[in-house]
Amino acid sequence: MYIVQIASECAPVIKAGGLGDVVYGLSRELEAQGHCVEVVLPKYDCMRYDHIWGLHSAYDDLLVPWFGGKVHCSVYCGWVHGQLCFFIEPHSQDRYFDRGCYYGCNDDNLRFAFFSRAAMEFLQQSNKRPDVIHCHDWQTGLVPVLLYEIYKYHGMENQRVCYTIHNFKHQGTAGTEVLTATNLNRPEYYFDSDKLRDNFNPFAINLMKGGIVYANYVNTVSPHHAWEARHTDISYGLGSTLDRYQDKFGGILNGLDYTFWNPECDRYIPQPYSKDTFEQKRYNTKALRERLLLRNETKPIVCYIGRLDDQKGVHLVHHAMYYSLHRGAQFILLGSATEAKINDWFHHEKNFLNNNPDCHIELGFNEELSHLIYAGSDLIIVPSNYEPCGLTQVISLKYGTVPIVRGVGGLVNTVFDRDYDQNHPLETRNGYVFYETDTNALESALGRAFDLWGSDRSKFEKLAIQGMEYDYSWHDPAKNYTAVYDHIRHR
Ligand code: ADP
Ligand code: GLC
Repeated sequence: MYIVQIASECAPVIKAGGLGDVVYGLSRELEAQGHCVEVVLPKYDCMRYDHIWGLHSAYDDLLVPWFGGKVHCSVYCGWVHGQLCFFIEPHSQDRYFDRGCYYGCNDDNLRFAFFSRAAMEFLQQSNKRPDVIHCHDWQTGLVPVLLYEIYKYHGMENQRVCYTIHNFKHQGTAGTEVLTATNLNRPEYYFDSDKLRDNFNPFAINLMKGGIVYANYVNTVSPHHAWEARHTDISYGLGSTLDRYQDKFGGILNGLDYTFWNPECDRYIPQPYSKDTFEQKRYNTKALRERLLLRNETKPIVCYIGRLDDQKGVHLVHHAMYYSLHRGAQFILLGSATEAKINDWFHHEKNFLNNNPDCHIELGFNEELSHLIYAGSDLIIVPSNYEPCGLTQVISLKYGTVPIVRGVGGLVNTVFDRDYDQNHPLETRNGYVFYETDTNALESALGRAFDLWGSDRSKFEKLAIQGMEYDYSWHDPAKNYTAVYDHIRHR
């Protein structure tokens, strides 16, 4: 099959979170399984150019309809660890992707509506006719709308779309200018509750809703989150739309790219190890302590890696830090906050704990350091309020770092409590799970982990090794996606 992914991220070149990992890992696995995959991305000024091989201009004369005129774009082409990617660069004065950031601009709706239109125009003009277009999150919600309202009439009547929702919180609620800009004329047609009209705000359109309504298949990134999306309020107003389209909605658990995330061959850690040489993990712990100036060599290391935001349960992350120190453990936090209030809060904590030899807070995004933390730590906490899938617990399992998670979303599908999970035999359990959002719940799960670490180190290590035995590679999820692609292709 020929598949084109249209997305706003692809790791390690463009990565703000798990979306980048997914686009990269899924594309590579699909290729490994014999499919042809191309990835279309914006050409941001701040992406990691050092991870692109052979970047060159491929199309210099792409004309993209925009606000009734045409915007001249160049399309570059290059390989990201063997994966063919195209990067779209508009020449107009708006310089949509030369902002020094991926997201967070006032005109994000327009930026990504432009990208969606440009990506479709690129496929059309360059005669690319994939069997399936796979697009992701609100940024590309307009892709299936454009396909069925415009491009279908310009030689793309056989293309089908799979739309993956990674996070319902960000839906791209926008005003009419987005319709005008992309030449989706007749706003009254789209301002219909059966089409793009936002379920809360009758004066706004919702790009994610457009994706759900128009795509041939829609999924979120774990089976449990797919259930939550329809039966709780976690889909932020889109539950009724998902109910309406339940026949084409499902949950496919993310995989992990084990060529990039693998302690046996990780380029960013000093000592390779596997479940059979688990004791070698200790050299990474030593290197981690040396790098972050953690003095004591006998305490367990608890870490948190991720965005610092309400979704991730920041209050519980904060509490876990002090609780760990109180229980005589060490704590490492690697995180970035976009919200000023949370950013200030953790900067304050960083200054406050600066001289504590058992704690290290690193604020910002640091791919290389994250690998060493996964490899060197004993425990990781993931106390999310909600979590569509979550990759940090899956990565840490592969690195023999025991996860302590809240039982929501994809965390439920990947972590099984050592003491209480009745559905898994003891020898296949891999972490600790708590359910409530209060600090007692977190303490009891983290406390159980500390107790095992303190009372029986060999049992603790056995638990870590059991986690390493799980196969959360892309092999099976990619098969699930190809089954979906096949299904929609033949309808
Ligand atoms: P989300 O996509 O909601 O942010 P995931 O758990 O799916 O959460 O994926 C997060 C990805 O981003 C993981 O690969 C994680 O290692 C990485 N990551 C998150 N924050 C940072 C950071 N500050 N520095 C380096 N990597 C980070
Ligand atoms: C989102 C979700 C996260 C998921 C990631 C990749 O950002 O917050 O749970 O793992 O996308 O699908």
